Amino acid sequence: MAKTTSLFVCGECGAQTRQFFGRCSSCGSWNSLVEQVAPAAADQRRRRPVAAPDAAQAPAQARRSEPIAAVGERPLQRLASGYGELDRVLGGGLVPGSLVLLGGDPGIGKSTLLLQSARAMAARTSVLYVSAEESAQQVKLRWRRLAEADRSGPAAPDVCQGAVPDQADLQLLSETDLELVLQELESLRPAVAIIDSIQALHDGELSSAPGSVAQVRECAAALARIAKRQHTALLLVGHVTKEGMLAGPKVLEHLVDAVLTFEGDRFASHRLLRAVKNRFGATHELGVFEMRDRGLAEVSNPSELFLGGEEPSSGTATIVACEGTRPLVVELQALVSTTSYASPRRSATGIAVNRLHQILAVLEKHLGLPLSRFDCYLAVAGGLEVEEPAADLGVAAAVVASYRDLTLPPGTVLIGELGLGGQLRPVSQLELRLGEAARLGFTRAVVPRGSGLAPVAAGLGLQLLEAGSIAEALVAALGVNPADDRP
Ligand code: TYD
Ligand code: MG
Repeated sequence: MAKTTSLFVCGECGAQTRQFFGRCSSCGSWNSLVEQVAPAAADQRRRRPVAAPDAAQAPAQARRSEPIAAVGERPLQRLASGYGELDRVLGGGLVPGSLVLLGGDPGIGKSTLLLQSARAMAARTSVLYVSAEESAQQVKLRWRRLAEADRSGPAAPDVCQGAVPDQADLQLLSETDLELVLQELESLRPAVAIIDSIQALHDGELSSAPGSVAQVRECAAALARIAKRQHTALLLVGHVTKEGMLAGPKVLEHLVDAVLTFEGDRFASHRLLRAVKNRFGATHELGVFEMRDRGLAEVSNPSELFLGGEEPSSGTATIVACEGTRPLVVELQALVSTTSYASPRRSATGIAVNRLHQILAVLEKHLGLPLSRFDCYLAVAGGLEVEEPAADLGVAAAVVASYRDLTLPPGTVLIGELGLGGQLRPVSQLELRLGEAARLGFTRAVVPRGSGLAPVAAGLGLQLLEAGSIAEALVAALGVNPADDRP
């Protein structure tokens, strides 16, 4: 038998050495080298010498490549996962033979999501659920709870309701040994296999502990080979490490076709599913779920989740953020109060604090508001993270409204990026955003000048207020000039 030799691979940069070092010699990170089995030399494929270009004598060699035009096109038959939200993030459903990694913090609901989805898929196709973390009994208990929810409540997705017979084709395997999992995959040849989680699997050939970079990489690669060969769609669960990376850093992301992350606030019940990478669809799509006492439910109208819903109060502004192709109407709240510290406090939840600093500086400089003498707190309702600059105008309006103790007229949304010179810059997908605002009953939208969308807005029943600068936009939104009558 060929001798296997060890190789040490850096988990951070991927450098390989034959010897163990405490510190990677190429990237300098500490304790990042992990052992891996190097393929024995005899196994390594050697390239055959290319035949002499004497075509007359040599028998025509079978060509492996073909013109791209000649490659047959097979329509992708996607499998519906049972959740419209999950399908959207996957790009329209699960592609057979694809590898999907679902990452997220422990306890966020990855197992619940996949088990519920397995229930729905098992009604139509064969599914293998490998639970490496929980015993078969535990999974069965959860399955029972979800089944009861299906029967009794609206918490379950509509597609599953009543459609899942108890004897659906769902096989359960509670196992951590990679070899046994592979054998089961080969003998069952399921259409979908779920591995929960990849970090709990263990390859006996490697000496390193389960969950280490080497183990994760080897296990995932072995599973991927089989899945591709027999056209099994593979869903891998991966935990996020302390640093917020999918373990091991980036090794899995290269291997899989799609990386989804499941995130949410520990204190809020909604969960957001995003695609970070997707070979079969767009990334930055967003799926929204809500964790109920009996499993995850889809939220098909997420804007309602992020709207405060109370009476309008001073210091609130409504924006339309875009997550991928999905517009979300979100409420922002600002509190501006006289500081009692040497340097004023600034804090922001759901928006980068540097962005807030920048907007405050623009307001101070271009509207002459003495905000450096005031504390300023900003929060996005519902715990959503808003990263895009299109929220700038909303932040500025909320701050000014709180500072001047004004209430924005109800039914107004604010969309626009703020330049350092106080000008309002255009944003992407404005039409989509206006559509969502109109759908939720908003009647006025303040947007950057030159959008050319006045006819569209009129059709939607929205009053479109265009502004070229922050001062103009605030006059349009609040009806008074915030720069006059300084308190
Ligand atoms: P789980 O899917 O086990 O998380 P992960 O696999 O990502 O670690 O979800 C665990 C949490 O979800 C747990 O804290 C309890 C909660 N939960 C509910 O609130 N309702 C339910 O119906 C289920 C099954 C779980
Ligand atoms: Mg789990």
